[in-house]
Amino acid sequence: MNWTIGFIGAGVMADVLIAGLLEEGVLTRDRIQASDPSPARAAAVQERLGVAVGTDNKAVATSVDLLVLAVKPQSLGAVLRQLSGVIPAETVVLSIVAGASLRVLRGGLRHKRVVRCMPNLPCRIRRGMTVWHAPADVSAPDRERVRAVLGVMGEEIAVGDETQVDRATAVSGSGPAIVGEFVKAFLEAATYIGESRAVAQETVLATLLGTAEMIRRAADEGVHVAQLIDEVTSPGGTTSRSLQVLKRGAFHATVTDAVEAAYIRTQELGASLEDQLADFIVDEDAAPGQ
Ligand SMILES: NC(=O)c1ccc[n+]([C@@H]2O[C@H](COP(=O)([O-])OP(=O)(O)OC[C@H]3O[C@@H](n4cnc5c(N)ncnc54)[C@H](OP(=O)(O)O)[C@@H]3O)[C@@H](O)[C@H]2O)c1
Repeated sequence: MNWTIGFIGAGVMADVLIAGLLEEGVLTRDRIQASDPSPARAAAVQERLGVAVGTDNKAVATSVDLLVLAVKPQSLGAVLRQLSGVIPAETVVLSIVAGASLRVLRGGLRHKRVVRCMPNLPCRIRRGMTVWHAPADVSAPDRERVRAVLGVMGEEIAVGDETQVDRATAVSGSGPAIVGEFVKAFLEAATYIGESRAVAQETVLATLLGTAEMIRRAADEGVHVAQLIDEVTSPGGTTSRSLQVLKRGAFHATVTDAVEAAYIRTQELGASLEDQLADFIVDEDAAPGQ
């Protein structure tokens, strides 16, 4: 591949992406660079991954084809102010910053070609899910580059509008914690009825992974999860008793409330980021050129 990538922020996610790009052979080391405010961290990442890592954000932002914003939301304001108006028009910016809207990113950077995405925790082991949205200013070949980059973290799906990225922040973004809580409760339940911790660990995790895979295969064939549940639920049997308890405990309603709460919070955080930068961001769609 004959394009280059740069990372603003050389933390956990930049590390995952760079390692993935190299391992998957998407790009060679000489086509990857990054910057981070900490000289020690920059040197350590350079040493470990063998790519150029410095401390000069502008140098990176002005010399790559695809620029990844990989900083925490609280550092975003400083990055936007520093890079505002300096990114070459043809460069594509890919933001992995949770909650940062395209309005904030494009208006803050004064740059049109911005893609917003939401990876999740399993991206760290390259079994993640990333939902992304690219506005019309991003060309088809640029979208393919973005796809190739995000693909090194696991699955990726492009969505047609930004609110779907906000929804994904609640579903696949908060999902690992929600599923994690379920697993924790399930493990506690298994030991409560007397299963040893070691056996519980094995049975719960194997059940989770096996069921997930089975649900996926069934879905590919157009079979809904409800049908699988039906198959395992004989009238008057053990599973039937168990499902009645989940119903009485309002399990579905609780999961719905949890996901909805995460969605509302995502929108609140996005709005608060816009408020914080209100004096600085411009309406990029109204701005001429680039
Ligand atoms: N980690 C995940 O599983 C995950 C999942 C989904 C989305 N995300 C999103 O990914 C983004 C990055 O997360 P992360 O876990 O990689 O964070 P991280 O490990 O804290 O990495 C961010 C890096 O950026 C550096 N930085 C701070 N200010 C900077 C600046 N002005 N210019 C350049 N670099 C700067 C930080 O340095 P200091 O430490 O010195 O501040 C740090 O090394 C976040 O916005 C997060 O919402 C993360």
